[in-house]
Amino acid sequence: MTEAAPSLSADLARVIIEPARLAERVAELGDQIGRDYAGRQPVLVCTLKGSLLFTADLMRKIDLPLQLEVVGAAAYRGQTVASGRLRITKDVDSDLAGRDLILIEDVYDSGMTLHTVHDLLALHQPASLAICALLRKRKPRERELELRYVGFDIDDVFVVGYGLDYRERYRNLPCIGELRREIYQE
Ligand code: IMP
Ligand code: MG
Repeated sequence: MTEAAPSLSADLARVIIEPARLAERVAELGDQIGRDYAGRQPVLVCTLKGSLLFTADLMRKIDLPLQLEVVGAAAYRGQTVASGRLRITKDVDSDLAGRDLILIEDVYDSGMTLHTVHDLLALHQPASLAICALLRKRKPRERELELRYVGFDIDDVFVVGYGLDYRERYRNLPCIGELRREIYQE
């Protein structure tokens, strides 16, 4: 290693959601989805890369035969503010016409990512299209999207962990925490 590697949690201003609370809420969401989609075979559409951990945990809490798809969307280029543009880096692999889609997102921030991926999926003419976001930031938005499932409403601060990154770091933190400002304002 070329540089010292201090613990990731030392870079947090505070822990917002502990691992046990994440697991509890993800299990509740899985139960709810299992009940809502009883008798159907939904397709979970995971947005890379931030939603990987959430999707992996959530799908194991849904007691239904389901399909997994991934969509790549990149908006943040190593920054904590949106660049205003989004690239679709990977489309789905299957024909989703007539299917019940559940779009899984890590955080509903400005909504640009969700709007873009939602519109992309709508082109497939699914039978239904619901959104499940782990986090929703409390902030005003120009266009509100209806989220069927929300894990936690949080303050409008920059968070990392449980899949969420800052410059590709911190995804493996088991909690959700607020990143210390001096880390991204240096
Ligand atoms: P939106 O398009 O502004 O809603 O932002 C959604 C995407 O931006 C998420 O999928 C994340 O990848 C990233 N993002 C937004 N807020 C945060 C944050 O607080 N921490 C880490 N990534 C974030
Ligand atoms: Mg990111």
